Amino acid sequence: MRDTTLSSQETPTGSINIEELPVDIVEDQELVYHQLCSADSFDDLEGKPFHINGTHLAVFKYDEKYYAVDNRCPHMGYPMSQGSIRDGVLICHWHHWEFDLKSGGCFLASGDDLKAFPVELRDDGYLYVGLAKGEREAARRRVIDQGKRALERGLKDRSTFFIAKAVTALRDAGATPNEIIHQGLHYGTHKSSDGWSSGVTILTLAANLWDDVDPKDHNLFLVHGLSQISRRSSGSARPYRAPFPRMEDAHDLETLLRWFRYFIEKRHSGAAERILLTLKDRDYDKSVIADFIYTAATDFYFTGDGHAIDFANKMFEALDYVEWEGAYEILRPIVVDLVGRTRHEETSRWADAVPVLEPVFERLDSIWDDNQTNECDLDISGFTQTLLGDEFEPTVKVVEEKLRAGVDPRDICRAMTYASAIRTARFHLKNEGDWHDVANIYSYAHGLYQAFGYAPSANLLRGIFHGVVFLAYLRWLNMPAARIPKPGQRLDETYDSEKQMLDRLQEFADFQKVFEAEILVNQYLEEGYDIRSLKHTLSHILLREDAELHMFQVLEVAFRHYDLTEDAEEKRMHMLAATRYITAQKLMKNILWSTENAERLARGELLNERDDD
Ligand code: FES
Repeated sequence: MRDTTLSSQETPTGSINIEELPVDIVEDQELVYHQLCSADSFDDLEGKPFHINGTHLAVFKYDEKYYAVDNRCPHMGYPMSQGSIRDGVLICHWHHWEFDLKSGGCFLASGDDLKAFPVELRDDGYLYVGLAKGEREAARRRVIDQGKRALERGLKDRSTFFIAKAVTALRDAGATPNEIIHQGLHYGTHKSSDGWSSGVTILTLAANLWDDVDPKDHNLFLVHGLSQISRRSSGSARPYRAPFPRMEDAHDLETLLRWFRYFIEKRHSGAAERILLTLKDRDYDKSVIADFIYTAATDFYFTGDGHAIDFANKMFEALDYVEWEGAYEILRPIVVDLVGRTRHEETSRWADAVPVLEPVFERLDSIWDDNQTNECDLDISGFTQTLLGDEFEPTVKVVEEKLRAGVDPRDICRAMTYASAIRTARFHLKNEGDWHDVANIYSYAHGLYQAFGYAPSANLLRGIFHGVVFLAYLRWLNMPAARIPKPGQRLDETYDSEKQMLDRLQEFADFQKVFEAEILVNQYLEEGYDIRSLKHTLSHILLREDAELHMFQVLEVAFRHYDLTEDAEEKRMHMLAATRYITAQKLMKNILWSTENAERLARGELLNERDDD
């Protein structure tokens, strides 16, 4: 049987950019034998590349025999057909990995083997190579397994380039984003003794924002999260902890919660971790675990500049994304955040707030009872202005009144998020304040909004009051207040298309022309252009830089709350906040370059070729 079908248009992982020879196929019982070419077209030691239905082969003549191996070096994809043979050892000409030509075994202990294929010289004088019937799928799985091992190595070696290469190979081989994100989350939570880190947060954000990002930036997003994980991981596993032994007369939740809060207060992370693991082991609902964590997070004032709430939210989003697979590891780091981060009642900055808030906290149960009994709508836009007041004491009073009247706590969180967007948009570049502060309240308010979705409770109300105080503290970041583009404000230039506007936006970002970028976004929104394209562009502006956590957080909150509201001014303010935050930061582009190089390799371009001729 002859079949000359070639998949020359396909571009599987590591497809090579050199001429490949046509083949014919002949079936055997288990293998399908493909005719390659006449045996006497080979010189001794010579390698030739072939491509058979998605399988790349390097075929060699050595010592009067013929050998075939995968043509893609498992290190970085260099075509093995361009390698050389010395004493039966096939040498890759890029970084000198060495392989047994016959079996494909790699001489480097940590290196992956090359897949070897049987070659027959038949009576017709032609060479035939045997590929298993499922070879294409097997090759795809090999590339995925190889990619996962390569990703593990990249994470361990803290090499952005190796991570990028592994991600590109995995995605080209059809690995789902979930597989990659899951691996990264497991590595980041297991191979560290830290809290919920920036890397696992960014990876969770990649999952959340997947559809808001241009598909051509998806790999880049994954590489951002994974490379931050590699930097924050020690490489050694977190100390082992187990749930409590099972028993018939199990402790009630009240006791476990009391213990959990006690051990968090005493900063005894091991004990608190065991309680969380016990909850998981006993199959308690997510709302129970969330209640434990949010109660402990709000037992202290604005724990960790709001990161305890924010990271707990990200942890639950990550757990939902992987459907709680591997939850025992993913649950543990948050305890470190609960015990180890700043408790603001211990700081001088909050000394004025504690005497105001403590009496309110003594009334929490009655506030909660009233809130659950009554019902009242909130004018989110109007209430946002209340939250932006200079003094927190009157605002605290109004918040208590609104809650007692039955306003949904999530609506107050939405107003707090809107107010935080305004704080961000009004952050003056001349202000020497910390950009992280505005990002922290913005992501905290959103995290609290999510927390009330998971586990609403009287105790969680404390988080609202903490946020109210911090928003007031941040008023000085708006002194002087930056200008916000006025409705109808335009730059003195014209644009022929949406694309031209978005290209210009990227140029403004390149030169940190923050206000020009805001005016342009303002115009874009007013003229009703495609919001999806704007989201892609803002994401790209962020992803092409070596962006740090807060930039990602701001982007997500802006996008989510843009989608949540019908109010045009609220939508505008969220997008202006994101534009301002992202264009005001000037960073490096190392992650972009590593990912681009990995993608070039996967397309078969050779990095060792000069591109400056
Ligand atoms: S050794 Fe083959 S690509 Fe590096």
